[in-house]
Amino acid sequence: MEREKIYGKTKLVSGADSNGIKECAEHLVSGEVVAFPTETVYGLGANAFDAGAVEKIFAAKGRPSDNPLICHIGDKALIKDIVSEITPLAQKLIDAFMPGPVTVIMKKSDKIPAEVTAGLDTVGVRMPSDPVANEFLKACNVPVAAPSANLSGTPSPTNARAVMEDMDGYVYAVIDGGDSVFGLESTVVDATGEKPVILRPGAITKADIEACASGEAAFAGTLEAGQTPKAPGMKYRHYAPFANVEIMDMPKGAKLIGDESDDAAPSEVKKPDFDTMSEDDRQALVDIASPFIHREKELLKANPFARVGIFAGVEVKALYEKLGDKILLAHTEFYEYGNALDVRSAAHSLFEGLRHLDCQEVDTILAQGLTGGGMATAYMNRLEKAAGKKGELLPGMPKPERPSRGELPLEAFKDTFTAQILFADDDNTCLSQACEAIMTGLIEKNAPYDMLVSRDIGCELYCESAGITASDGAVCDEGIIKAVSEETGRNISHCRSTRADPALYDASDIIITVRDEHAFEIIKAFPQIKDKVFSLSTFAASCGLVFKDANGRLVSVSIPDPRGENEATYSHTVKALKAWLELLFPYLIKAVGAERA
Ligand code: TXA
Ligand code: MG
Repeated sequence: MEREKIYGKTKLVSGADSNGIKECAEHLVSGEVVAFPTETVYGLGANAFDAGAVEKIFAAKGRPSDNPLICHIGDKALIKDIVSEITPLAQKLIDAFMPGPVTVIMKKSDKIPAEVTAGLDTVGVRMPSDPVANEFLKACNVPVAAPSANLSGTPSPTNARAVMEDMDGYVYAVIDGGDSVFGLESTVVDATGEKPVILRPGAITKADIEACASGEAAFAGTLEAGQTPKAPGMKYRHYAPFANVEIMDMPKGAKLIGDESDDAAPSEVKKPDFDTMSEDDRQALVDIASPFIHREKELLKANPFARVGIFAGVEVKALYEKLGDKILLAHTEFYEYGNALDVRSAAHSLFEGLRHLDCQEVDTILAQGLTGGGMATAYMNRLEKAAGKKGELLPGMPKPERPSRGELPLEAFKDTFTAQILFADDDNTCLSQACEAIMTGLIEKNAPYDMLVSRDIGCELYCESAGITASDGAVCDEGIIKAVSEETGRNISHCRSTRADPALYDASDIIITVRDEHAFEIIKAFPQIKDKVFSLSTFAASCGLVFKDANGRLVSVSIPDPRGENEATYSHTVKALKAWLELLFPYLIKAVGAERA
């Protein structure tokens, strides 16, 4: 299915804007696609009575249209228009769990076109409990057919920004209702028979359903060839980030928090305190964190350039920090969801965590496995699919791509801090100016940033250059101006040299020199700042980035001064600097306490 942008810009409507929501509802009823929040994940909605409108959903998602959609309602009175029969079991489920994170499959009515149900004679009905969803669906007053609002195959969106990343330009509007409470899609239950069959596990657990149906519930089996998929992920690639995902088992016998409660509230997060904790608690923590550390060490042994994302509880990062292995830490990006064994928190953050780690450009994500019978079943169902990932990629289905995160205004943060990277050389008219230009481009391209230790604090990153022996105000070398312009499109002809001085060193969070001797000179003059002064090669080494040639010999980073050489040498020099800085970029921003937001 060809994906084609049909809007210049998708409207972003606040969940507090009643008029905006009404206007979205009018557009939906008249055939447009609108994304809306729910307590599970965001949905991509169209008028379920309008086959043409429903087709637009498939076009926007790049999704095969043999996957049936759920009809969402804001009022139970609409159910009679969607289904032709409500079995006693279906009625019980409706009474017990709607509004809430459940989808009940019933026999469909003739009013629902085949486009919605992929030709099946059944249809899923869901009434979300999210207040913004409810207001919007009530205003629509027609059943709203909606899949999750992600690009087919990628992690489902649990906030408006994630929807915008996948859908900007492809749908009429996105209604922003904040973070989805549960973070995993609804429990899908087939209630056409006497016995409930769970097609997809969710926050309404098997035990919940059994209690309601006063009888046993079954889980549906996997798909046979040629069958239309009944539940998502049975046939196609699903929930998968770009990075490989591996599941780290939880310790045997450990007890989950929140597995069977229907309270979505996360448990209070306790940062472990190694000094005061009991021997048993310490052992429990080591048992949780060890599989991650062990596996990451293996990955780094196989590839010293591996970048690893960790989706886990606060305990895991705490143990990494306690170990204090700088090289291990340099290669690791953490997404902490709360307490390690709190399955509600893990579920709430899973999809957002996968998206976030993907954008830190990790190759592998090690994710906490959580085994249990309630919410953990739903969590592992999604995580296992994300880890399996490969699934069938149909013609026209979007190829997996490393996502870039959408815009995030600085006002989105509680606070902001600034960090500065300084490039230094001798006279600041050549190599350090080239580095500044390249790095500034990288900073712009990868923005926005937040604080490594607190995602709700934004970061403004700056880059400067200076020379140890520079005189102020000298113009750049002609050759470097030309090469930088050709390789990066940036014009540095207006840049003037600055002399490096203690005030500038003070204002910089890290100081990088191209050549080793300049770093040594700075450290010799100012030994008290030695921890933040590196050359390109000593910085790479400090991150464990070791280079070997085909014969296994160590290769050091050395970039000669191109001045006095021909044009080709200048061009090679800038190319080499660019390759270096691109490689070091994630390590550099981490060294100054920032990450991509
Ligand atoms: O929480 C949710 O259910 C979210 C939000 C937006 O409501 N929606 C959602 O939709 O996850 P979607 O399309 O990504 O997954 C719904 C799945 C379908 O893929 C399908 O396999 C199953 O529910 N389903 C829908 N109608 C069905 C039917 N008639 N028979 C069997 N399974 C059905
Ligand atoms: Mg989906």
